[in-house]
Amino acid sequence: MNKRISGFSKLNKAGKIKWIVKTFFKDPENVMNELMSYWHSNEAEQKIFDGFSENTISNFMLPYGVAPNFMINNKVYAVPMVIEESSVVAAASSAAKYWADRGGFRAEILGTRKIGQLHFKWSGNALKLRSRLDDIKEYLMSEVGDITKNMDKRGGGIREIELIDFTSKLDQYYQLRVSFETCDSMGANFINSVLEQFGQSLQQFVIQDETFQGEEKDLEIIMAILSNFTPQCMVRVTAECPIKELGNFPGGMEDETFARKFYEAIQIAHIDSYRATTHNKGIFNGIDAVVLATGNDFRAIEACGHTYASKDGQYRSLSHCKIDDGVFKFWMDLPLAVGTVGGLTSLHPIAKRSLELLGNPGAEELMMIIAATGLAQNFAAVRSLVTTGIQQGHMKMHLMNIINSLNATNQEEKQLVAYFENEAVSFSAVRNQLDAIRTSSNANNKAN
Ligand code: MEV
Repeated sequence: MNKRISGFSKLNKAGKIKWIVKTFFKDPENVMNELMSYWHSNEAEQKIFDGFSENTISNFMLPYGVAPNFMINNKVYAVPMVIEESSVVAAASSAAKYWADRGGFRAEILGTRKIGQLHFKWSGNALKLRSRLDDIKEYLMSEVGDITKNMDKRGGGIREIELIDFTSKLDQYYQLRVSFETCDSMGANFINSVLEQFGQSLQQFVIQDETFQGEEKDLEIIMAILSNFTPQCMVRVTAECPIKELGNFPGGMEDETFARKFYEAIQIAHIDSYRATTHNKGIFNGIDAVVLATGNDFRAIEACGHTYASKDGQYRSLSHCKIDDGVFKFWMDLPLAVGTVGGLTSLHPIAKRSLELLGNPGAEELMMIIAATGLAQNFAAVRSLVTTGIQQGHMKMHLMNIINSLNATNQEEKQLVAYFENEAVSFSAVRNQLDAIRTSSNANNKAN
């Protein structure tokens, strides 16, 4: 069967589904019904989702959970999280409560600037380019007045334009590195519009300016785009308390031992990239979940975080730990460019609810909430790893998923949970135990 098609995007939604199910599935009718069963019952709402991306045929559901008791700078939040992985929300909630009992998280904004780049080649005289830089900047700024007007009014706009000479790395390659303030918006469209206009205006300047007469061919614009690496858009989040207030841990582990093992675990993630990757993955379990729930761009946030984690040439832990004078301190600096206005944040009905649940924060407050969730997640993961191991918690969730998939009754569920308190969980072990419970209950019924 021909699996290629031209004009797929022009088909209406039903047409797209029909072609997909007929071409790729063995039971087209069932699959079609299933895909359509996930359409929103309200047509207008569905239209909003269809508008987010292209060739939409259905909606893909993910759990929307909440981690309560996050105390950040003395304010308490219930944090919305969208994630498919079991134990993550439970871990965030548990770490949030733990730290709320010890003063909560402290968070501060270290900067909010974002970067965009105009990449170009200049084969003309480098000194001439430098000597005209101030006039070039002035001209470029005057050319984007219409685009920046509203952002300027909101207190944002363009802050700096730098010429960077990369010719030692790539022949004739320069860039204009532009820094922006975008207030409560993530600012991607704003930044990209400014940069594309800069590209056209730079060409115009070279054509018009006397210094460059006849040299317009020396300029070639390669591309204009924001950078998702935002080391000047940064939040710091910290949790700390005296070691003697850390409490006791499973297996009777004492506070001192816990603090030392925790500290070592963080050091390991600083010296070994294999561990650092998993360690930071745990941090992003929390971060991505809130980023998604609030309609922000998790790919941008991840890319940025990982670049920052390798800023000195080796991929390392994003979080840090220090034990000083009997005080346990755990913290993270994280570049995080998010928005609370514009884009999906104001279109997605549940993203809007997430922001409402958080008290409609501005971008800076949301940065602090997201970073605290990442740090809490990291704390919970490393706490489990250096005490019980993570399988204990995971297996509890795994057990519940197996029980649900076997359609156990409430009574059977209770019996299974009690039985597997001290038994290894596997699908076949749970199914066998459920069979045993059912057989014995049938036998009892018959006897009565
Ligand atoms: C699992 O999703 C995340 C962890 O592996 C993180 C870690 O190892 O720190 C538990």
